[in-house]
Amino acid sequence: MNTGEIREDYPILRTGVIYLDNTASTLTPKQVTNAVTEYYHRYRANIHRGVYRLSQKASDKYDQSRERVASLINARPEELIFNRNTTEGINQIALALELQKGDEILTTSMEHHSNLLPWLNQKTKGVKVGYINPDSEGKLNPQDFREKISEKTKLVAVTHISNVLGNINPVEEIGEICREKNVLYLIDGAQAVPHIPVDVKKMNCDFYSFSGHKMLAPTGIGALYIKEDQLQKLKPPYTGGGAISEVTLGGYTLSSYPSSWEAGTPNISGVIGFSEAVDYLRKVGYSRIQGHEKKLTKQLLKGLGEMEDIRVYGTRDARKRACIVTFRLEGMDSDDMAGILDAREQICVRSGFHCAMPLFKNILKEKEGIRASAYIYNTREEIEKLLTVLGDYSS
Ligand code: ALA
Repeated sequence: MNTGEIREDYPILRTGVIYLDNTASTLTPKQVTNAVTEYYHRYRANIHRGVYRLSQKASDKYDQSRERVASLINARPEELIFNRNTTEGINQIALALELQKGDEILTTSMEHHSNLLPWLNQKTKGVKVGYINPDSEGKLNPQDFREKISEKTKLVAVTHISNVLGNINPVEEIGEICREKNVLYLIDGAQAVPHIPVDVKKMNCDFYSFSGHKMLAPTGIGALYIKEDQLQKLKPPYTGGGAISEVTLGGYTLSSYPSSWEAGTPNISGVIGFSEAVDYLRKVGYSRIQGHEKKLTKQLLKGLGEMEDIRVYGTRDARKRACIVTFRLEGMDSDDMAGILDAREQICVRSGFHCAMPLFKNILKEKEGIRASAYIYNTREEIEKLLTVLGDYSS
């Protein structure tokens, strides 16, 4: 992979910034911003509502974008709903399931708050939330799911790749157990689709939620895969213009999916940018993305491992994780360290509890950490700079 050539696509990198907060949000290449600008400058119109040519062009681009994003995860276009982000997708499912008193949700204690709070919200209805704990390196044992799924379990909700630990979870094995037990299965794919090939059919999942802004697309655009048999059963939680086929003063008939799940004018430019980002990532290719990340992960883990007062979370096996590395420098507040990294070398990392308070509290037994997360445009020299600054504060 020619990182030098890739870097040319990101004007922001010319400012000298060392951007290592890709788990929060990636940068956006000019191919994507150009596609968004082209929409605003050349065919800016609403979709699926006008017979005039400008609207037809916008509609065609929107529909083609759905095909391109869906095919990336081996979904059919009708099975892919555009929304704002992973969080919204999980909330949409939590609402659509219409859970009842006595139903149980099984999740893990490593989840991002986005795959926890929508389930905790169901507790007011008398729904119970149960947890599988990972081991101290963050590894999940699929057999724990087999043991804990009960007759009352309605859904299993698991993250594909932890946003703190970087571990790739055994989602296919968990999917087999869910199929065996006849339980619905939702995967939070926010950190997976940017880094590894994803095939929703192989995982036997019913729902897969992911975000554009973590994979080079603009912010405010996400996608939710819903398996067709669930689309036929579930009622979309929001409704309004664009989602119906017939309305009277007494009621309405929904249009068919996916438009029935996309009430209101969608984020048209975001969808177009999302599909451009998907094309860009396809050109780079997942094997090159994974190879590059593995190289940087090994370098980072080795360098951090040499500093005795640094504790690294997650698996030490670079083949089983994305380049999302969270660590703690003993005696140093993580916000202070992040501020120093920025001030000294314009290094951007995230600090704090990373929207995963229960993981820190219950499993890692820490309050916070520093997270460095790399992507296709990061270099070995950038990782070296990070390690050098950290080395100055490590004893
Ligand atoms: N989910 C993003 C993160 O972990 C915001 O940083």
